[in-house]
Amino acid sequence: MNKPVAGFSKLSKEEKINWIAKEYFSTPLEAITLLKNYWNSDEKIQKLHDEFIENTISNFYIPLGVAPNFLINGKYQTIPMAIEESSVVAAAAKSAKFWSTRGGFKATVINTEKIGQVHFLFKGDVSKLELFFAQTKAKFFSETKSITKNMQKRGGGILDIILKDKTDLLDNYFQLHATFETKDSMGANFINSCLEQFAKTLKQEAQSYELFTASEKELQVIMSILSNYVPNCIVRAEVSCPIEDLAEKHITNPQDFAERFVQAVQIAEVEPYRAVTHNKGIMNGIDAVVLATGNDFRAVEAGIHAYAAKSGHYSSLSHAKIENGIFKFWLEIPLALGTVGGLTSLHPLVKLSLEMLENPSAKELMQTVAVAGLAQNFAALRSLTTTGIQDGHMKMHLNNILNQFEANEDERILIQKHFKLNAVSHSAVVELIENLRK
Ligand code: MEV
Repeated sequence: MNKPVAGFSKLSKEEKINWIAKEYFSTPLEAITLLKNYWNSDEKIQKLHDEFIENTISNFYIPLGVAPNFLINGKYQTIPMAIEESSVVAAAAKSAKFWSTRGGFKATVINTEKIGQVHFLFKGDVSKLELFFAQTKAKFFSETKSITKNMQKRGGGILDIILKDKTDLLDNYFQLHATFETKDSMGANFINSCLEQFAKTLKQEAQSYELFTASEKELQVIMSILSNYVPNCIVRAEVSCPIEDLAEKHITNPQDFAERFVQAVQIAEVEPYRAVTHNKGIMNGIDAVVLATGNDFRAVEAGIHAYAAKSGHYSSLSHAKIENGIFKFWLEIPLALGTVGGLTSLHPLVKLSLEMLENPSAKELMQTVAVAGLAQNFAALRSLTTTGIQDGHMKMHLNNILNQFEANEDERILIQKHFKLNAVSHSAVVELIENLRK
């Protein structure tokens, strides 16, 4: 059995690696060599990555790809995507090209409000708490002045603070529910700093509030934290064209295709098992751009899935309809993104990705990300309702299987030629490799 380790974080990087190699690997030297092979030869770059997190031992590569030809609001973009799944970038690029000759994507930011809450317990007279809040509200603003000063210069700040009575859900539970505008930053640090100051002000002011009894003065702050649920920070992306314009190689009957497509979306609207996979396909596009641009994909994921369940029933994020001979396909999603602060000026590839997108504002990035999600969803539904998903997916995956078997150049040429005409499956590839090697 492995032993626990004391003071691990204080060890040097070399010592950490040696400990891990000795503790967990039968061939420690091989493990050490592998970890070091993934170090960057530029010491400055490596140091930067080492310091992003604690206990760094190496780097974990994910490919950075690009999907060109995205026509968004009349302007072409090449979208950077960091993702390991083989068919995602190809699908995005295909969708981009398809829609570039059919009017392109339109994207609109609907609103940009962020949310944070101070969660606290108050045992006492609610009407007194309400009066206290009304009389103290201005203090929450004045006592956060030093935090909000710079954000206000950029046009952002605290929008409002309200008191919420949540005692119908949990005994004695109240919130200070605050809304924020954080402009081009994601705003997590700004919001959390404001909230922690609200909590201090709340406790201090309660202590000296004359109308409160001794026990009411002891209201208890449980925690202060932003919410990753941002239903008022919404972006919409859409495409539309006359049905007959949908015609192309795999769409020989555009009317039939449009109807099947709309039906597929309706299934995802009503059936949660399908909705989760449908939305996963959307997230393939969204996460890849969010990651490449140094944003927090876990926050984005959590917020978007909560939004997908806002009716109390998990449903599709995208929608489609046919109206007067026009095919329309769109999505609306919550996205709290930043193009300044966080990793954006630290990670060299994030900087490069943002530069490739012509250094967008947070609103512009919201539009690009939403479009990447819609494009991905279109590509998936187009395949699903026509050729089936495995055709394209397995063609892309073929390379991974060939790498797994360390196929040489001659084998690759023969195998790729064979699978141009035949359906790719893992077992069919393995069988062919084995036959070739006999
Ligand atoms: C695979 O990563 C994503 C899909 O399953 C999405 C979908 O089914 O819509 C193809």
